[in-house]
Amino acid sequence: MLTEHFPSPKQIAQDIAENGYHIYHNAISPETIRNIKSFWCAHFLNWRPTKELSGPNLRFGGRNFIIENKSTTRHMIRSVNFLWNPPTHPVSRNLSSAIYKKVNQAQGLPENYGFEFTPERIGIFIGTHWYPPGTGFLSAHTDDNVLLPELLFMIPITSKDSDYDGGGLFVKNLKGQKILVDDLMNPGSIVFYSAKREHGVDLITSRSPKDFGRISLYAVATFFKTRENDPPYLRTIENTHYRLKGIYKKLKRSLTGLGKS
Ligand SMILES: [Fe+2]
Repeated sequence: MLTEHFPSPKQIAQDIAENGYHIYHNAISPETIRNIKSFWCAHFLNWRPTKELSGPNLRFGGRNFIIENKSTTRHMIRSVNFLWNPPTHPVSRNLSSAIYKKVNQAQGLPENYGFEFTPERIGIFIGTHWYPPGTGFLSAHTDDNVLLPELLFMIPITSKDSDYDGGGLFVKNLKGQKILVDDLMNPGSIVFYSAKREHGVDLITSRSPKDFGRISLYAVATFFKTRENDPPYLRTIENTHYRLKGIYKKLKRSLTGLGKS
């Protein structure tokens, strides 16, 4: 899965401190990338949105979901996997989890940070994004929440030139220069960057309608919400639902004679 060229946590920390981002080549085995690519291309080709909410509604116990994120700042199809659910694709989950443990170590955090339940409710999730050609993009932004780990990583699953020909991930380095990361990546490469550095995805373009576009894989830490974050009216609706369900069950039992001695 990871090759001998995969950087040590110490190396990653050093390179990020120097440039704000760093690309490592031949870090992931070609078979792993091929396996992940063939799964996600087929998955995204036949995707249907799940009913789960995304964005601010990432919550403990939630189901995996796949949705389209379309707004003035982005367009992508987003698959999100939580560690408490069976993986949508086990190889993708194993790979991104193994890498996230190195991300933790590179920041001086315990290897299992984000993999365990804690009162802070910080945990990781695994995301796969598909940016379709002609429409896929993500505006420049930073993810600099001081309470979350700063180091991010991204693995390209499809490749510029063979699956799309324009656009892709960019990161601004410590000198403020815009680095077109996807232009520098090959299958098996990985990029690490600081969440404080401005980054985004320039519009993905392609020459042929057969081109798939851009797929990338990552894992990231987030704050998970719980029922406590629900507005009170949602609890009222939920309580009413379960009260009515109880009444219905009792009624059904008395009508069918079940439960009588
Ligand atoms: Fe971001």
